[in-house]
Amino acid sequence: MPKLKIVGGRRLSGEIVVDGAKNSAVALIPASILCDETVEINNVPDISDIDALEEILDYLGVKVERGKHSIVFNDTKIDNKFIPCSMSGKLRASYYFMGAILGKYKHVDMCFPGGCSIGERPINLHLKGFEKLGAVVREDDGRVIIDADELVGAEIFLDFPSVGATINIILAAVKARGKTVIDNAAKEPHVIDVCNFLNSMGACISGIGTGRIEIIGVDHLHATKHNVVPDMIEAGTYVIIASLLGKNLKVSNLDPLHIESLTSKLEEAGVNLEIGDDYISVADVGEYKGIDIKTMVYPGFPTDLQQPMTPFLVSCEGISHIEETIWENRFQNVADTIKMGASIEVSSDNKVATIYGSSKLVGKEVSATDLRGGASMVICGLIAEGETIIDNISYILRGYDDIVGKLNRVGADIKIVD
Ligand code: EPZ
Repeated sequence: MPKLKIVGGRRLSGEIVVDGAKNSAVALIPASILCDETVEINNVPDISDIDALEEILDYLGVKVERGKHSIVFNDTKIDNKFIPCSMSGKLRASYYFMGAILGKYKHVDMCFPGGCSIGERPINLHLKGFEKLGAVVREDDGRVIIDADELVGAEIFLDFPSVGATINIILAAVKARGKTVIDNAAKEPHVIDVCNFLNSMGACISGIGTGRIEIIGVDHLHATKHNVVPDMIEAGTYVIIASLLGKNLKVSNLDPLHIESLTSKLEEAGVNLEIGDDYISVADVGEYKGIDIKTMVYPGFPTDLQQPMTPFLVSCEGISHIEETIWENRFQNVADTIKMGASIEVSSDNKVATIYGSSKLVGKEVSATDLRGGASMVICGLIAEGETIIDNISYILRGYDDIVGKLNRVGADIKIVD
């Protein structure tokens, strides 16, 4: 199995250009099925999650033209058959095929989605939303069968502002009869991007980016071209790296507002950030003090950045805390970070990590436990003394387009080895 080999301690200079958002692209691609004409999506990240979605499209008979950072649907009709676990189980975002296929064909038959082991990852809010729209949902040994004679707009209140449930219910509602309201909806930039994409093909969605989204059903969705919004989590990951090792290191093609929760925390720790309209750069690094972080839904501190933030807090002076409120098992990267020399305690309920700073990390053989945990280990390797070998790197390659090339080009000593 390929591994990453990193020799740490190198200062990084130059420019890293952020790609399109994984968590938008993985929704836009299934959503394209809803369109009645052609669809072109650009700024698509070149990552294995997109390959997994393309495999499902191919299985359903949807032929697409895939470029390195684009995908074109010349025909969106599908052969609506059972989607097996071998395909849907490869990623969590396969669940967007539920909303899209239900919204267009009123019948879905597929296995439950997969995804990283950061928590139990239920989809009850998605399925409850489909039922509110008039669908009948049957679950049978990991398989979901959803049928609707007709989808009728409804008032839906989400127990939790779930990103996936918000998007999936919108997909099922865009062609339903009448008005659907989703209250307590998610506001993440990738949710906004999916709404803008659907409206660009003639959907009628309002309240975008607020907690109350209204969808008036339409009969026809026309051709569209769309650019995926920049990836706020990829951007944040590289801004953290710049804060630790940057010497005139610029992270560009980002919206600073999307990661204001991160930049405000980095500045609280003492990082000197230059924040432009579409870039963030670090001229030089300094001594930083420990801070406390609590993960929240957008616009709060994103759960997907708490693991990449851990090596930063390890490097700060003093004591820091990370409180993870979204997922129940998202400190799996801590064990290997301790193995590299960090001093971290996780509470017995697995909700709070206490980080005793000023630790100097030493390169070791470690593993990626999940996507963002893997990114965290890359950052540990970049700041550690000596050589770090990271195993299970398929997790990392699921969500970071050309991470090795991007870091090499700014001076990191990182390569994929067998
Ligand atoms: C999306 O997952 C992202 N994945 C996750 O990113 C991200 O951590 C998460 O949103 C939160 O921002 C994709 O977009 C593919 P949720 P999602 O529904 O949609 C509970 C990454 O690293 N919940 O907002 O699955 C759930 O258990 C990945 O890129 C229910 O209880 O997240 C969790 O506690 C990891 N029932 C909370 O809501 C449901 O039906 C947040 O889940 C759905 C969710």
